[in-house]
Amino acid sequence: MDLINKVLREKDVSANPIWIMRQAGRYLPEFREIRKKNPNFIKLCLNAKLSAEISLQPLKRFDLDAAIVFSDILMIPYGLNQTVEFEKNIGPILGDLNLDEILNFDEQDFIKKVSPVYDTINLIKKDKITKNRSVIGFVGAPWTLLLYMLNKKSPKKNFDKELLGNKMITSSLLNILNKFIKIHIKNQIKEGAQVIQIFDSWAGLLEEKELGFYVYEPTLNLVEYTKSLNIPVICFPRGIKDYQKYCEIVNPTAISIDYDVDPKMIDKKINLPVQGGLDPKILLADKDLLKKKASYYLDIFRDRPYIFNLGHGILPETNPDMLKYLIDVVKNQK
Ligand code: CP3
Repeated sequence: MDLINKVLREKDVSANPIWIMRQAGRYLPEFREIRKKNPNFIKLCLNAKLSAEISLQPLKRFDLDAAIVFSDILMIPYGLNQTVEFEKNIGPILGDLNLDEILNFDEQDFIKKVSPVYDTINLIKKDKITKNRSVIGFVGAPWTLLLYMLNKKSPKKNFDKELLGNKMITSSLLNILNKFIKIHIKNQIKEGAQVIQIFDSWAGLLEEKELGFYVYEPTLNLVEYTKSLNIPVICFPRGIKDYQKYCEIVNPTAISIDYDVDPKMIDKKINLPVQGGLDPKILLADKDLLKKKASYYLDIFRDRPYIFNLGHGILPETNPDMLKYLIDVVKNQK
């Protein structure tokens, strides 16, 4: 069994496996090389051969314990016929939402549109480099996807709560999203994904009283579904204030923590395998500080199943040598 599954299934504490969010991405010159020739990001995600190559790039350089499929959480709105474009220095821009179309969307039409993602996983699995490593599939959580679909761009700078004003719309969209997210999970597993991660990047934008409807209920449903397929599921509810309550209600196989949360508090209050935490900005500093901060997480989670990762995606300006150094620190700790 691969190390990550040992941690997740057997609660093994003898080693800390490591993979990095956005490990296939812009900090790697070999990724930028391919990206330069493929200006359309969605098209690149739909090119299984290139996507598989990109997914494997970090494994060719570093001793990482997993490959994560190179794709995007916005492939689901794309698969539901909402246009998705990525603009340089701005991020994703989505087209108008056709509610009637989406509420009646055909499962086979969706699968046809996103099936290259499944082909990518198939190719990654076949490569001998993943023989003893996990292949991680992923989805966006219903709330984060709903937010992109309604806001049509990143909610980082502006997000009007009035978008959520019509409960009939939000509730039917959440239901439809859950249906198609499950289809996406099932098909990634069918092609060989051994772990599923659910990214809820904007969970932190909600108030406590809104979490039940937008986050806890729909995510619990997906967690139970993934577990019913006998596959471990890691949840990353970035920015959520009460990780303890989230874990009690949603009960993922493991909880991935962001860099704002105090790992000591997590250690005290939460009784699940943990992943992540380290601030990606530390990789922009010097090696001594990096070692010190990485060891801080490793020490706190020494006696529990802990997968090393960052508290959000690796930054594009990161020097790949710093990641190599971090992996050495993690691998030499136990
Ligand atoms: O982690 C990996 O290496 C796998 C691939 C992956 C990508 N996106 C590739 C990508 C994963 C797991 C994602 C998840 C994703 N996508 C999330 C959740 C995680 C998070 O960062 O909070 C979100 C919110 C998105 C939506 C998205 N995709 C945004 C907001 C952006 C633009 C901002 C940015 O970081 O560039 C993207 C683009 C994107 N997705 C890139 C990559 C490698 C950069 C595209 C480029 O080359 O320009």
